[in-house]
Amino acid sequence: MKRLIIANWKMNGSIHLIQEFRSLKKIPGTEAIICPPACYLPLFSDTLMKFGAQNCHHANNGAFTGEISALHLKELGCTYVILGHSERRTQFNETDSVVNHKAAKAIEHGLTPIICIGETYAERHENRFEQALLSQIDRSTHGLPRHQYVIAYEPIWSIGTGLVPTSNDIQTVINLIQQRLGTHTPIIYGGSVNDKNAADLSNIPGLNGILVGGASLNVTTFQSIIDAFQA
Ligand code: PGA
Repeated sequence: MKRLIIANWKMNGSIHLIQEFRSLKKIPGTEAIICPPACYLPLFSDTLMKFGAQNCHHANNGAFTGEISALHLKELGCTYVILGHSERRTQFNETDSVVNHKAAKAIEHGLTPIICIGETYAERHENRFEQALLSQIDRSTHGLPRHQYVIAYEPIWSIGTGLVPTSNDIQTVINLIQQRLGTHTPIIYGGSVNDKNAADLSNIPGLNGILVGGASLNVTTFQSIIDAFQA
């Protein structure tokens, strides 16, 4: 499978930035997917870029003011949806069970959910991270077909901090996930990925790609990160 290079723009970006991203080059062995704020998604439909969303609701439609469903995303041409990002878990009270329902709905409508898991700084340093990650995996992916979603390992302490786990530490978590889910589920890493560390990350066995936040907001930097994952 192609390695996934996912841009999580979060609540950033602009129409101007989307124009700049039209110059993004396709690189063999990789698939770049841009996840902009939802209001910009229609602007991607006449580009060659693959795109996805940062969230969706777990119902098809209804009285849920301000929400967007997987059905809407599918209609716009999205292929992926990021679910259970730690910012949504902590700031919008999303539980594993909510993430699980959203992911099931996304899969029902032909989208691939990118399910985020990750330990806190305390869980890592008190050596409780394996337990924390396994619990998130078990509850968030319950009942979902294992080849129809992606797991994004995003340690919370590494998001936006410049701190990245060692390749060995990432490898340990990949092994843990594979022991739990087998080898049919693609696993990607996210947290302070940039054009300097992308090459090292690209060498980690079993890693199927990356989720990039801050460094995905500059087209030159993002292109370098994609280039580092060339097959
Ligand atoms: P970052 O964010 O690359 O800015 O650390 C990653 C993420 O939150 O997905």
